[in-house]
Amino acid sequence: MSAAADSAIPRHIAVIMDGNGRWAQQRRRPRAIGHRAGARAVNVCIDFCLERGVQALTLFAFSSENWGRPADEVGALMKLFMGALEREVDELDRRGVRVRFIGERERFSPAIRERMAAAERQTLGNTRLHLVVAASYGGRQDIAMAARALAQDVQAGRLRAEDIDERAVAARISLADLPAPDLFIRTGGDHRISNFLLWQLAYTELWFTDLLWPELDAATLQQALDDYARRERRFGLTSAQIAAQASEDTPA
Ligand code: IPE
Ligand code: IPE
Ligand code: MG
Repeated sequence: MSAAADSAIPRHIAVIMDGNGRWAQQRRRPRAIGHRAGARAVNVCIDFCLERGVQALTLFAFSSENWGRPADEVGALMKLFMGALEREVDELDRRGVRVRFIGERERFSPAIRERMAAAERQTLGNTRLHLVVAASYGGRQDIAMAARALAQDVQAGRLRAEDIDERAVAARISLADLPAPDLFIRTGGDHRISNFLLWQLAYTELWFTDLLWPELDAATLQQALDDYARRERRFGLTSAQIAAQASEDTPA
């Protein structure tokens, strides 16, 4: 594969899976039914990333703020989450997927926490696709925890305050060991970040679709990839500079 073709495939895709509730409402069904349909769409997305050779996929499954939803909806989501952990991990493992969770794990029940840890242990050695599930996750919380870790290092004498820079923060934030997301996808028609990866999305290409998450299909994901491949990522530089870099990178 040529260098140009490689750079057309995002290494890391971050997804806000939104619209389950509205999908159910359109069908006059309870919101929990929408979440169940949404769980199927997760597999569509994982399959697509495996086929296209995407290295990392981060899925926003449940935000810090989603705990505030009605108790029966939160309960249904926890049941679905537990069910997915019980059912899907062996198959993911078989397909070479490494699974990891980011977010405030303490807020989940001990049974769910144990399953999360077991899934991470079981798939630790896999390298084909890195699947990150953001659950009980908030971008502000993530940054606050990085700030806390820095303060603890300073307090313990391992770090000087004047050495705190972007790299020091980046090293203590979620996904520090992965490339930053190249492409962000949000379904459901809303154009916002909703406290997802605030630090990590600094230069990510954003892509939105009105499609509701349970309706997700490979053709839509391909549209996002095609659009991504046409974009020029400048990272604050000029077009001419980017073109010069690209010609240096391409072997004659
Ligand atoms: C996303 O779908 C799933 C979660 C937030 C858990 P929603 O439940 O937010 O669906 P809408 O946005 O209400 O349609
Ligand atoms: C973002 O969706 C969180 C997840 C998809 C898990 P929300 O539905 O919670 O976001 P808002 O409330 O529309 O911003
Ligand atoms: Mg929503």
